[in-house]
Amino acid sequence: MLFKRTLIALLAVSAATLAQAQSNWPTRPITLVVPFAAGGPTDVVARTLGVAMSKTLGQSILIDNKLGAGGTIAASFAARAAPDGYTFFIHHNGMATSPALYRKLSFDPMKDFEFVSQAVEVPMTLLARKDFPANNLQELIAYVRANHEKINLANAGLGAVSQLCGLMFQRAIGVQVTEVPFQGTAPAMNALLGGQVDIMCDQTTQTVPQIQAGNVKLYGVTTRTRVKVLPNAPTLAEQGLKDFEVVVWHGIYAPKGTPKAIIDKMNAAVRTALKDPEVVKRMDALGAEIVPDATNTPEALHVWLKSEIDKWGPVIKASGKFAD
Ligand code: MLT
Repeated sequence: MLFKRTLIALLAVSAATLAQAQSNWPTRPITLVVPFAAGGPTDVVARTLGVAMSKTLGQSILIDNKLGAGGTIAASFAARAAPDGYTFFIHHNGMATSPALYRKLSFDPMKDFEFVSQAVEVPMTLLARKDFPANNLQELIAYVRANHEKINLANAGLGAVSQLCGLMFQRAIGVQVTEVPFQGTAPAMNALLGGQVDIMCDQTTQTVPQIQAGNVKLYGVTTRTRVKVLPNAPTLAEQGLKDFEVVVWHGIYAPKGTPKAIIDKMNAAVRTALKDPEVVKRMDALGAEIVPDATNTPEALHVWLKSEIDKWGPVIKASGKFAD
């Protein structure tokens, strides 16, 4: 009897401690895991949001770039982190494409995470090094078709949107080139600027400053309509690559089991950050669109991720590109 009463008392104390930990959250810095290299497009979104979110949460957001295997190493790490509200994870379309790309994946995007919010959508651009001998898309297609054995296409590995977009380009023009994977498009961009690789698809959140400075050649944007920040850049579709569309979307996740009270507070912090004038200004200047507030719920991200897995799975399987 005494044992039973002690046990009940202990359980009551630990439930109260847990509830207090959740209502005080956060009491220390929060880690946001980024699956690609520092300075690249995902990192830019994460750091911009992190600064704004820390104002609401009263704690720093520490960015942890966990590199490799097209974002799957970071996803696996985040899935196994303690569900205590101090580790979150930001990822893009790769969260939906990895299950089809990797035969052995050590995490399940739908089952191993709590869903926090979507954030921004980002167009991609098709680029070449500055001295590449093609001045528009038609010249690029002709040159790549004629010289495909010696063309190097940079990307951030299987699971990266740069890889997906590059794959779609090769399929659209009917040739295969040599893919050179990096641990993010930040190092891939350095290789493009240094002339070590020839062409690359990459997000405007990294490419706009390089395009505006004239450091790379731009052949078009991957969205259905033109992008405000690059008004002179035609879409790839309007130049003849019918239905060529890639839009990068970012979502924020937490390890499965993170308490709902914490997820809700984090969701509120993301939504507030997305209205922060500094965030709006920076995202605007880099061509990124803030996702409408009504769709920034955990439920909407859950539904969206499922629909993206269902959409890309068959396309990727048909492409025959897999990693073990
Ligand atoms: C990055 O942040 O480096 C990119 O998002 C990688 C990619 O192309 O997916």
